[in-house]
Amino acid sequence: MEDTKSIKKGYIDKIKRLIKHNELYYSKNNPLISDSEYDELKKNIIELEIKYDFLKHKDSPSKNIGFKPSKTFKKQRHKVPMLSLSNIFDKNDLINFEKKIKNYLNLKINQIFEYSVEPKIDGISASLTYRNGVLVSGLSRGDGYEGELITENLKTIKDIPQNIKFKDFPDNIEVRGEVYINKSDFENLKDKFANPRNAASGSLRQKESSETKKIPLKFIAYTFGFFENNKFNKQSDFLNSLQNWGFKVSKHNSIISNFEELIQNHKSFEEKRYELEYDVDGLVYKINDLKLQNRLGFVGNAPRWAVAHKFSAAYSFSKILKIEIQIGRTGALTPVAKVEPVNIGGVVVSNATLHNEDEIIKKDIRIGDIVKIERAGDVIPHVISVDTKKRNSKTIKFKFPSRCPSCGSPVEKEYNKQTKKHDAVKRCSSEGYKCEKMVIEKIKHFVSKDALNIDGLGKRVVEKFWEKNFIRFPQDIFKLDYKKIETSDGWGTQSVLNLKYSIDKSKNISFNKFIFSLGIRHIGQENAKLIAKHLQKKEKFFRIDENFDFNSFINIDGIGEIQIASLRKFFSIKENLKVVKELAKFLNIKNEVINNSGKLKKLSFMITGKLQNMSRAEAKSTIEKNSGKILSSVTKKLDYLVVGEKPTTKKINQAKDLGIKIINQDELNNLLN
Ligand code: IVH
Repeated sequence: MEDTKSIKKGYIDKIKRLIKHNELYYSKNNPLISDSEYDELKKNIIELEIKYDFLKHKDSPSKNIGFKPSKTFKKQRHKVPMLSLSNIFDKNDLINFEKKIKNYLNLKINQIFEYSVEPKIDGISASLTYRNGVLVSGLSRGDGYEGELITENLKTIKDIPQNIKFKDFPDNIEVRGEVYINKSDFENLKDKFANPRNAASGSLRQKESSETKKIPLKFIAYTFGFFENNKFNKQSDFLNSLQNWGFKVSKHNSIISNFEELIQNHKSFEEKRYELEYDVDGLVYKINDLKLQNRLGFVGNAPRWAVAHKFSAAYSFSKILKIEIQIGRTGALTPVAKVEPVNIGGVVVSNATLHNEDEIIKKDIRIGDIVKIERAGDVIPHVISVDTKKRNSKTIKFKFPSRCPSCGSPVEKEYNKQTKKHDAVKRCSSEGYKCEKMVIEKIKHFVSKDALNIDGLGKRVVEKFWEKNFIRFPQDIFKLDYKKIETSDGWGTQSVLNLKYSIDKSKNISFNKFIFSLGIRHIGQENAKLIAKHLQKKEKFFRIDENFDFNSFINIDGIGEIQIASLRKFFSIKENLKVVKELAKFLNIKNEVINNSGKLKKLSFMITGKLQNMSRAEAKSTIEKNSGKILSSVTKKLDYLVVGEKPTTKKINQAKDLGIKIINQDELNNLLN
């Protein structure tokens, strides 16, 4: 038996080695051991501490606050969010896209825009920060607001300049673009990854940059994030400068202002898409004028000034082996066809959604049928049609279940008052946390990227934890018995530590993400943000119960009857209230920070009538950007009624009665300047 002294000595030796390697790695940037050897060392130390209570040291990796599992990268907030693009598919969508812009900017319908037209490369976006010409850091997109610091890996990419000496290169700029892999290079990686996009993403997130270096990644720049002293007037000018400064930009970029030409260009580009050296899933149209871009701003997660015109999807044929019914977090029963694996546009597909019962009936889809399956980008492949000529005469019509396959509750179709029709989707009628499959999905949603974002608690793990009875409610995540997990299949000290780290970290959460994480039907990310912004204080949310005046939410621009009915239902169920209360105990929810430093702070406005050169939507968002508030009715709380052309007389009279200041557009502009 080893004596205490020699155990201690062995332990201290390991700690000393760790300190030395930390120094080499972090300060000297010259590691002598590989990341996995380093991890092994840390693991040994922690294992010893678990085995022998008397071992501790201030430099132990277990003490280290912010001890970062080396499998994940350090996170960093984006100075300017990295958002996504909304999609359009045809000419009609394009007309609507332009119409919205013209409405927002209050421009005539025959106004012509100049677009920067760029291929939408199907890779992984990255943001590069340059200070005085030196590449100082590189971030992945992450959830759009917070990315991973992958500087070293990005530096292995030859297309990314690390030192830029040009005089006109900005002192402080983030250059953004796509990391991707050429289709020809992907041929050699086919066994490891499903498609070029996965290959790029996987390589970029290697623990060791020497591994990333082995993959021939490429980079094409297409926009900026944070940009101090931006003097550019046009996106196309910026693209040209990027090229002059040594970045690669797409050689397929063009400027187009003619509507018909846009459509024609899309058509011919789509025809040659497979000839391109990399995967492209559409074209991006950006309003070329940066001043207009700035005025247009963002709606939700996407810019108003840009759109992705997608190419049509790839398709193939396969045989339906069986039809499974999946149950979603809101109880929706989704039929999914399990098909003979088939390669569609470079991805092996074995599942295809059939959407709902009506679709199955309409297309008369049966088990054993040969079907046409379509796949577009990241969207779940779906069945388009049945080749009835190939149908075996013995097949029978598919019968959709009338009870939930998970909990046996009756399934129902909701009645939509507006369309006066029944919903196409059948739902499990159970409520709260009674239906097993529904609850599992709720928990998956709770930990997902846009909600609590718990690394290491993926869908499979949630299912496993459920099977093992570790979790029954979202709050159980914070009561996990880590010792028990450590002894389960596939887990070890390091992975349990990583999980604990991610779970602890997820406890700090913004108010809006918390609301979103509850998975209330019709309350997605955008609505959760609106509600958080409206309530501002989490305490107000925790006080909500069935007696709450839900109609007060109708004042929130964007929240309607449907959302209100759904909230009312959610809070009428005791189990839901309990979950919310329990979660409040574990989470550290940050109240919504409202930008209150603008010129219009503490002032409220209402607009009546038409304004000049500016739509009402733009006026509203300009007021809000400057910390002003928009009210929807004339009350004593209102500070200013802004009057445009052809105003509502009733509103003016009400304002006069209440002694509210009435101003015109010029006076509003004066307040803003
Ligand atoms: S502009 C807010 N330009 O598409 C503006 N994005 O759906 C968004 N992408 O995350 C970026 N080619 O990964 C832009 N020429 C291009 C692009 C492009 C590919 C990707 C990018 C982004 C996603 C948005």
